[in-house]
Amino acid sequence: MVGHNTHTLAVGKLQHKIEEARRLHHEADVVIIGAGILGCAVAVALGNQGRSVILLEKSLKEPDRIVGELLQPGGVAALEKLGLRECLEEIDAVKVYGYDVIYYGEEVRIPYPANAVDGDDEVSVEKSRTDEMRGMKRKRPEGRSFHHGRFIRRLREKAMQNTNVTVVEATATELVRCSYTGKILGVEATVQGQPDSFFGDLTIIADGYASKFRKEFRTDLPIARSKFWALELIDVPLPMPNHGHVILGDGAPVLLYQIGTHETRALIDIPTNTPTALPAAGGAKAHLRNVVLPSLPPAVRPAFAAALDRDRLRSMPNSFLPPTTNRTPGLIILGDALNMRHPLTGGGMTVAFNDAVLLSALLSPSTIPSLSDTPAVLAQMRKFHWQRKNLTSVINILAQALYSLFAANDSQLKALQMGCFRYFKLGGNCVDGPVGLLAGIIRKPFVLFYHFFAVALYAIWIYATSGGVSKFPVRVVGSVGVFWKALRGR
Ligand SMILES: Cc1cc2nc3c(=O)[nH]c(=O)nc-3n(C[C@H](O)[C@H](O)[C@H](O)COP(=O)(O)OP(=O)(O)OC[C@H]3O[C@@H](n4cnc5c(N)ncnc54)[C@H](O)[C@@H]3O)c2cc1C
Ligand SMILES: *[C@@H]1O[C@H](CO)[C@@H](O)[C@H](O)[C@H]1NC(C)=O
Repeated sequence: MVGHNTHTLAVGKLQHKIEEARRLHHEADVVIIGAGILGCAVAVALGNQGRSVILLEKSLKEPDRIVGELLQPGGVAALEKLGLRECLEEIDAVKVYGYDVIYYGEEVRIPYPANAVDGDDEVSVEKSRTDEMRGMKRKRPEGRSFHHGRFIRRLREKAMQNTNVTVVEATATELVRCSYTGKILGVEATVQGQPDSFFGDLTIIADGYASKFRKEFRTDLPIARSKFWALELIDVPLPMPNHGHVILGDGAPVLLYQIGTHETRALIDIPTNTPTALPAAGGAKAHLRNVVLPSLPPAVRPAFAAALDRDRLRSMPNSFLPPTTNRTPGLIILGDALNMRHPLTGGGMTVAFNDAVLLSALLSPSTIPSLSDTPAVLAQMRKFHWQRKNLTSVINILAQALYSLFAANDSQLKALQMGCFRYFKLGGNCVDGPVGLLAGIIRKPFVLFYHFFAVALYAIWIYATSGGVSKFPVRVVGSVGVFWKALRGR
């Protein structure tokens, strides 16, 4: 008994010293820049493994943003693995069972596929059909949509409650490098207007889409071909409650999903240089009123018009940025700072949470006793780059491909777009596959490849059987090839 008590005391003392090292001396195993989606998740995951973590955030106020509001089932599953599922509670989150795609007024429901239990399981046609017949007995995967700021507040609370994590309101200003080895030793920051610094065996950059720090490590810039403009609609009757809505027509896609009991987010994609949204034509507001409003389901229009009159319009660039392998000793870049895809498919948070799961597994203390073992950490980062690909390449390619298709404005891509919608209408595996990929629950790039070509062939078949002759099918095949090439490797 005595021995046990002495041991507990010793551990308690050690913990206290480690906490003091963070608080007074600003020293930890890991320093993380940015307490957003990725930063909070990684801080908790590493803290749970007994690492000492400092988490820096420039503003601890509840954020008010138009991003990260729909979490796919694959993201919910990853959140659960991280022990953070509770963060979806008490924020008035809304359950999401799938999508409702509305194509020129015609609707198709795309539910998340049942029986896709874990990330590595593929949805088989046979099983999903039997599940349909069994009705609602089997639990289907669920996503969640919510106010981003409330979710972030819950994630930050979890980080603050973890005894191995110290959260500091600080703006990181510059990385600290060892001039001999080039290793990153930590970061300089401003804390309450005063310069300060923080040191760790590992520094993690998670400062989001406009990352100040990634520029030092890569020369390519994110590519944005469009922006999402946002409105918040109040008490709007959606065609299909508890579903994400994708509205397709002549223009670029519009998304609608509930983010609370009374609030619905509308995200309207406006490609750069859209003539009807140019300043001369009255800008984005005029475009929303004159072009987008009339294209919406009639039941949605009054709330949309009211929001247009009431709200300040906000927008965010829809960026694409392929990931790179981290080769800098002492440093890891993650989240939007590392890799972005068009937000049409709501994949960013799912990627971030899955990356947090994978990273903490690869850096677990049983494999990497000390994070100061730089060669061992770098070797794990090479594994990280390849192991995350099965999930992220699927999410990234699908996001870019669907966006190109849904925002199509030339006749060949329009034919593919129609083929895609008709393909969804076939139901069964034709929806289970694509939506399983989108949801982050199917991780097989081949499944994406398969459906991609199935859609293309279906589009050609529809065209051929609808009396189309001439060289059109050949041109469609050609455009598919071009399309696929443009997307490969993303
Ligand atoms: C319009 C739009 C809609 C989206 N919708 C969805 C969606 O529905 N579902 C989905 O899964 N994804 C969505 N995404 C993507 C998703 O928002 C991101 O992938 C996700 O937020 C990335 O997390 P992150 O932690 O890398 O960055 P962030 O969540 O942006 O966090 C970065 C944090 O770093 C802090 N920070 C920045 N600089 C510093 C500094 N110098 N010092 C200290 N702190 C700093 C910031 O304050 C912030 O808290 C959307 C994106 C866009 C653009
Ligand atoms: C914090 O780290 C210690 C080891 O240093 C570990 O025993 C403990 O479980 C960790 N605490 C939490 C909340 O994970």
